[in-house]
Amino acid sequence: HYELSVSNNKITITAFSNQGLFYGIQTFLQLIPSEKKNKISIPCLQINDYSKYKWRGMHLDVSRHFFPKEFIKKYIDYLVRYKMNVFHWHLTDDQGWRIEIKKYPKLTEIGAWRKGSMIGHYREQKFDDKPYGGFYTQEEIKEIVAYATERHITVVPEIEMPGHAVAALASYPQYSCTGGPFEVALKWGVLDDVFCPKEETFEFLENILSEVLTLFPSEYIHIGGDECPKTRWKKCANCQSVIKREGLKDEHELQSYFIRRIEKFVNSRGRKIMGWDEILEGGLAPNAAVMSWRGTKGGIEAAKQNHFVVMTPGSHCYFDHYQGEPKNEPLAIGGFTTVEKVYGFNPTPTTLNKNEANYILGAQGNVWTEYMEDANKVEYMIFPRMLALSEVLW
Ligand code: ACM
Ligand code: ZN
Repeated sequence: HYELSVSNNKITITAFSNQGLFYGIQTFLQLIPSEKKNKISIPCLQINDYSKYKWRGMHLDVSRHFFPKEFIKKYIDYLVRYKMNVFHWHLTDDQGWRIEIKKYPKLTEIGAWRKGSMIGHYREQKFDDKPYGGFYTQEEIKEIVAYATERHITVVPEIEMPGHAVAALASYPQYSCTGGPFEVALKWGVLDDVFCPKEETFEFLENILSEVLTLFPSEYIHIGGDECPKTRWKKCANCQSVIKREGLKDEHELQSYFIRRIEKFVNSRGRKIMGWDEILEGGLAPNAAVMSWRGTKGGIEAAKQNHFVVMTPGSHCYFDHYQGEPKNEPLAIGGFTTVEKVYGFNPTPTTLNKNEANYILGAQGNVWTEYMEDANKVEYMIFPRMLALSEVLW
């Protein structure tokens, strides 16, 4: 909350916190005309301004395409300008592991690199043979987190499990069901090889998360949880024995068991987990927050169970979708989400009662980068839709 007042002879910004002052300054900067003139003039005004939602997020997938540290800072600057306060950093996926983990060096020696990439439409199934990859060192991550923190932005890391794990499994195949071998994926989509919920896998993931927790001070750690096929689990003796041992009904309950185990660990370190809405399947972990992406249904269900929710429905918040007539636009994954549609988004479903509505933390724009090969393309896709979302959230 801040107040900005511009009169004939004085400009004042008043707030009760540094964060409030910081936002007042962002608004003031927006008042300065962008054209270069000898003289700048600002209209007299009085603004009393505050945020509507606590979670005003933007996500970036750095696995499908990698973006250097310099661009991550620029991206954070964009968030700042529009008073966003969460940067959700999607650091791991089938096509690349992007965060240095000291205990498991192969995650980046092997997992950060692929032999080529898919080119053109998915349906064409065409690939190039250009080696592709990159990762952030822990020093770089510290630098980014410090940069974001100075700007009142929380960085929420995402470490995907149990699905979208092929880059990790290419590095350490012993944590799969079949034992591999695997290669870092060239093609986009949902792959059948996922983490096998055996004890060694939990030890591996907990060691990784321990390093992640020291790098990221955020209240929430995103553990993915989406799109985990049960193909391997159905045929794996190990998985079936865990189902039996734990008295689980099926593989969906096994996924729920997986997430609960991880939640227990993260909670024991004083943090909370957030996951995509599939974590509702087979029963929600007791303290988990849900990021609703397959529409708002999962979010509604979670809020009704008194769990915190961030709304990111594909219909309104996926900025990898086309923003105009596809025939006039550069190649994108699909969909059709105009700036007008984003403006019209209401993160709080009207079917929730007042108490349930309190569990809606906010919303977030998701930027999956299968079809965004460089920074220019990311900028093209987030503008102007991010501005619309920021107005929804403020
Ligand atoms: C997702 O888009 N798979 C969360
Ligand atoms: Zn298994």
